[in-house]
Amino acid sequence: MTLHDLEKIFQAKIDQEIKIEPKDWMPEAYRKTNIRQISQHAHSEIVGMLPEGNWISRAPSLKRKAILVAKVQDEAGHGLYLYAAAETLGISRDQMIDDLHSGKAKYSSIFNYPTLSWADMGAIGWLVDGAAIMNQVMLCRTSYGPYARAMVRICKEESFHQRQGFDALLVLSKGSEAQRAMCQDAINRWWWPSLMMFGPKDSESTNSDQSMKWKIKRKTNDELRQNFVDMIAEQIKLLGMTLPDPDLKWNEERKHYDFGEIDWTEFWNVVKGNGPCNKQRLDARRKAHTEGQWVREAAIAYANKKKEKSAAA
Ligand SMILES: [Fe+2]
Ligand SMILES: [Fe+2]
Repeated sequence: MTLHDLEKIFQAKIDQEIKIEPKDWMPEAYRKTNIRQISQHAHSEIVGMLPEGNWISRAPSLKRKAILVAKVQDEAGHGLYLYAAAETLGISRDQMIDDLHSGKAKYSSIFNYPTLSWADMGAIGWLVDGAAIMNQVMLCRTSYGPYARAMVRICKEESFHQRQGFDALLVLSKGSEAQRAMCQDAINRWWWPSLMMFGPKDSESTNSDQSMKWKIKRKTNDELRQNFVDMIAEQIKLLGMTLPDPDLKWNEERKHYDFGEIDWTEFWNVVKGNGPCNKQRLDARRKAHTEGQWVREAAIAYANKKKEKSAAA
């Protein structure tokens, strides 16, 4: 079979909504794009644990602490499913972790912003996990089987994350003057970075067309961003708060909310590693990796011992 035939069969499968599985033939660029996207997603899950982990020891009640611990643990689990999905494409976990720690691999820029108050835990759940869900619901139908299946479970947990975030803000929004101000301040700081989570505009997104053809993505950055704005612009009414965008307005003709322009200079600046917490996050990851060395060694020694035992039996 020629390369051309293989490519034809591959694309026909995708067009018929048949999932691509690890042992199937696939174009090298498809493999690479998936490795990049899935590992980037995995890194985002585990780096995402850092800004929220910051507040576990300072949660305002036992109930909130338990919820936050559960949520941060979920994110670790998401990282694990996704690393495992990426491994099926022929990259090792060690390689991916090395790429993260050397700065070669990216993770979502949203986690390079600091968490300054308790209300940020609410704003992250509601806005950041909310934006993540928009992306991830689409990914439950992505063409690469292991990625799609991992996303189904992740999405269920993300819905809980968003609910708990909204609930935390709802309580603050009904609280004292200071609590209401804290709630509004968190929304003000997280709104624009959340919009940036959908990536560059379609007109400037280099990977978009091919990813749509291969059904790795099914909606464009701009479509997803619009869906997100439409959802949040309604939900914020329940909080009695406002979004920090004077241009936000319902457009009866389009049946969508219009909204202001993202600060793209800030967007690219954070992507390039100059965000407020880029260095802090990578340092924290590297430190955790070094300090966890003995755990990995112990796990390998234990696995070898077990293997020897079963070989001897
Ligand atoms: Fe997650
Ligand atoms: Fe989450």
